[in-house]
Amino acid sequence: ATFAGLTGHAVLTSLTEYPESVSPHTELGQWADAVVVAPATAATLARMAAGLSEDALSALVLATESPLIVAPAMHAEMWNNPATQRSIKSLIADGTHILGPADGALAGGDEGVGRMVEPDEILAAVDEILSGSLSGVAVLVTAGGTREPIDPVRFLGNRSSGLMGHEIADEAARRGASVVLITTSGLSCHHAIKRIDVETAQQMSAEVSTLLVDVAVMAAAVADFRPKHPASAKLSRADGPPVLVLEPTPDVLAGLAARENPPFLVGFAAETGSLERAVEKANSKGVDLMVANDVTAEGAGFGTSTNVVTIIDKEGGIDQWPLMTKREVAERLWDMVEHHISGRYPRSL
Ligand code: CTP
Repeated sequence: ATFAGLTGHAVLTSLTEYPESVSPHTELGQWADAVVVAPATAATLARMAAGLSEDALSALVLATESPLIVAPAMHAEMWNNPATQRSIKSLIADGTHILGPADGALAGGDEGVGRMVEPDEILAAVDEILSGSLSGVAVLVTAGGTREPIDPVRFLGNRSSGLMGHEIADEAARRGASVVLITTSGLSCHHAIKRIDVETAQQMSAEVSTLLVDVAVMAAAVADFRPKHPASAKLSRADGPPVLVLEPTPDVLAGLAARENPPFLVGFAAETGSLERAVEKANSKGVDLMVANDVTAEGAGFGTSTNVVTIIDKEGGIDQWPLMTKREVAERLWDMVEHHISGRYPRSL
């Protein structure tokens, strides 16, 4: 009654009792420019992921070809449950936009992740998705430097801050893509991004392996080697300097490139000095584009807000960009990727 009063329209709660149409789910599905499910419960997410259609809402969702935007809301335990996370991954692979959930007060006085994002953020996201040049495209971005444990306290790491990767993920979200960001960085990101926090190359690789996307931008600085036998207790100074035996980590990018239907792949190559190695890497890694930078150059590299990059494409074309902010690099990179993938995505259109 409240919704009917506020909107001046009948509210659809049953497939058979709706005065405005005889086939409400298909008519509304065809009519809508976008379908927003807010709040989306764990059960609704599971039904949508499985393609079930036994109630008015899930039937409508199945009957629309318009962008689907969902704002999950539930207790943290239910959100973190592997079953819910499986639903989310399936929905993302299908091009669904997942907004949030946010951290904060939950039902019953609980606190944690699972709160529906605010209505004005949902409205802003709908605007971006409907007008965005990457609408309907599923994007994966990796960001930050991995940390490979030596013991529970220390790790082998690198100087990557994650800023470049977060700027790339944010820009894709602003252009209406459905974005998954796998990051080691504590930096914030756009609210319409599905964020997965990881620490190690192994964790990053495991998360990437379960995702199906159209475009992958591998901006993370992934460790190539990790301690083979990390100590389970803190190493003591009294024991003297440890000898670290290292073993290779999985090559996350190579795993994606080896897929039967690989996504459009953008690799990063941080070099010190000449970029010749980056050209070789672009060839050997099977990427569509390689973003190379000399991290020792002025205004480039780790922890700065600017970058100086050279783009190497599959055909060996080389494009040197001037000093720009990392946000500007992200914008220009997406312009270039859009140009390369035009006509290829979204696959559903
Ligand atoms: N990369 C990855 N998994 C790894 C190592 C690297 O996915 N275990 C990705 C990075 O995210 C980046 C690209 O591969 O997009 C190139 O990373 P880089 O460290 O420059 O290349 P390597 O193959 O490690 O080559 P080298 O160490 O010889 O420079």
